[in-house]
Amino acid sequence: MTEKRDILIVGGGVISFAIALELTRQGASVTILCRDAAQAATQAAAGMLAPQAEMIPPSPMLELCLHSRSLYPAWVHQLEALTGLSAGYWACGILAPKYGETGHTGEHWIGREEIHARQPGLSAEVMGGYWFPKDAQVDNRALAKVLWAAAQKLGIEIRSGVTVDLVAHREATVTHLHTNQGDWQAEHYILATGAWSEDLLPVPVFPRKGQMLSVQAPADATLPLQQVLYGDEIYIVPRRDRRIVIGATSESVGFTAGNTPPGIEHLQSAATRLYPELKRFPVQETWWGFRPATPDESPILGESPYRNLTLAVGHYRNGILLAPVTGCAIAQWVLNRTAIVPLDAFHWSRFRP
Ligand code: GLY
Repeated sequence: MTEKRDILIVGGGVISFAIALELTRQGASVTILCRDAAQAATQAAAGMLAPQAEMIPPSPMLELCLHSRSLYPAWVHQLEALTGLSAGYWACGILAPKYGETGHTGEHWIGREEIHARQPGLSAEVMGGYWFPKDAQVDNRALAKVLWAAAQKLGIEIRSGVTVDLVAHREATVTHLHTNQGDWQAEHYILATGAWSEDLLPVPVFPRKGQMLSVQAPADATLPLQQVLYGDEIYIVPRRDRRIVIGATSESVGFTAGNTPPGIEHLQSAATRLYPELKRFPVQETWWGFRPATPDESPILGESPYRNLTLAVGHYRNGILLAPVTGCAIAQWVLNRTAIVPLDAFHWSRFRP
């Protein structure tokens, strides 16, 4: 039997849900097909909203990221009002400390005295750093719950445990999706399939593994960190519930699962070098995930080789950050063939040989 819907979105992460919610808000009828939301990069992320700390060079990608960061407070507020749940958005700013005499300067640079005053407890090796007050964070796992609840509240159909194994097409038209739960047909299809996108279409999206860990700050001390620390090869993200998320490795090992001793050891030594007090805090959890990387580290958004299939894949290190702008832009693209931001720079064909 073939299931028929208006719009099918494939994927169980923030991008899929952000698009589904925006389409629904604009009056469309949407079904989400997801294999296993727990595997999405959304669950593995740290939730940094960090276009500046990530040092994205001036480009359409930076514009997209800055735009999405500016949408975040209102986007989260709307979702929280709808669901009564918190997504843990925190406009805490991000501090990027540097070791040694670096010759760094610029609008955001602060010297040794100022950085140690801003963040007591940093390593004595820290000689200065960059302060990005507009960068922020959201609790990505809480956000995933809020998005799921919002989708349910708006009556979006979510079908879990559905593995799409083939995008069937006749010439430039997708005819149906073949899945482990039969065939699914729609007027329009949207792929938000993260690191697994290449299984379905020849788009250059590949997994870049990140290992992470968290520690728990003791309840008897004041929360020691009041902003994200973004060091060299390490970031430390304090949550308001005293959990501190530490990430992340960046490994080209395909979909090899699991935490490794060298991966965790690297995170622990880099994190405790930057902020030695972490040595006192018990490890709470270790985990890993797969970032959806592309060759130019920017997503693939909008048109696909098929007239009735839209792409929203390859968000690499910035999927949580880019969720609001991707949701709006893709919904507008699907419904009106326009978008709030230019999508030309993110067209799939830029990778065509
Ligand atoms: N956005 C941080 C990371 O991908 O590790």
